[in-house]
Amino acid sequence: MNPREIANNLFYVGVNDRQKELFENLWPLPSGVSYNAYLILDDKTVLIDTVDVCYSDVFLKKTARALNGRPLDYLIVDHMEPDHSGSIRLLRQQYPGVKIVGNSKTFGMLEGYHNITTGLHEVKEGDTLDIGSRALHFYMAPMVHWPEVMFTYDPKEKTLFSADAFGTYGTLDGGVVDAQMNVSPFMDEMVRYYANIVGKYGNPVQKALQKLSGLDVQTICSTHGPVWRERLTDAVSVYNRLSRYEGEEGVTIAYGSMYGHTEQMAEAIASALSENGVRNIAMHNVSKSHASYILRDVFRYKGLIIGSPTYSNQLFPEVESLLSKIEIREVKKRIFGYLGSFTWAGASLKRLAAFAEKMNWEVAGEPVEQKQGMSEDKYEACLRLGKAVADRLKEA
Ligand code: FEO
Repeated sequence: MNPREIANNLFYVGVNDRQKELFENLWPLPSGVSYNAYLILDDKTVLIDTVDVCYSDVFLKKTARALNGRPLDYLIVDHMEPDHSGSIRLLRQQYPGVKIVGNSKTFGMLEGYHNITTGLHEVKEGDTLDIGSRALHFYMAPMVHWPEVMFTYDPKEKTLFSADAFGTYGTLDGGVVDAQMNVSPFMDEMVRYYANIVGKYGNPVQKALQKLSGLDVQTICSTHGPVWRERLTDAVSVYNRLSRYEGEEGVTIAYGSMYGHTEQMAEAIASALSENGVRNIAMHNVSKSHASYILRDVFRYKGLIIGSPTYSNQLFPEVESLLSKIEIREVKKRIFGYLGSFTWAGASLKRLAAFAEKMNWEVAGEPVEQKQGMSEDKYEACLRLGKAVADRLKEA
């Protein structure tokens, strides 16, 4: 319930969610998620973002405690997605005089979600807000995740409030700033969060990173996960790499398999990849691995191999669903291999070839199609496909 002072007169008033199973009702949260909000105490008092409405009680208590009897002058809304804007209406009820700071797109959403149309202070790119000993600067970051997203920068403390950018899944179990915790799990979850939530918006993320490159930023306060200070450079470089769709050396193999025959092909290919020097191989049975984790690995590694049986003259449904998720995210520059199997009429290879063409990916090796059980020549063809992908990865 206590707010945490994370810098001089900067308080963390966010909350942890260990109850929700699925973020956005889509993405698993095995280690929960935090909704971060921050309060600056200067001549004026300024709250930056709120939290999911389910946690407004704890959030409002923390905020009141940090304010210690002072009024709340401003609420800056960097992002209107309800995991951050959900408590705005209740906040306004508690602090009727609070001025809400946002851009024109923010205010359209504020009216739509909360029917709030008064007490607003509109800002545009490069505007500042004087709050006493410092002036906060605003930078628009459209589509770093939604169109209204903006970043707030405090040049005095060299602190950036970055909305979803640099966010991760995972609750803050005691610590708030990266130096106070073991951040390894968060670095891993940052990749999954990016792939699931922000993955489609590589170009807007690149534009935002370029905009920030001229600022002296020593602390990043995201709306999810740790406050980045000690590992700030690492967090920025993860975003930079992912938003360029630059994969590490490694291969994701995602396959559907009803009776194990496509899986045997995938195993043979994995073995050939390993024998040819690929150390990072992530295998996913699409019926077992949640797409959240498969997407994480698709973003992480530059090699991707997909296998599917033919099912009702189509792809295996879970494979089709995965392709759609990859296509939506416009993943670029993957070295792609593919395989399929069938019992009486094959359709999967044709669909996978069309997918590769649509994604404008380079196809490595000869695709393998197997009828019914594994034959010796198909086994050898799988080994050749694995070797071809491994060889191409080394050249890339
Ligand atoms: Fe964490 Fe796009 O909201």
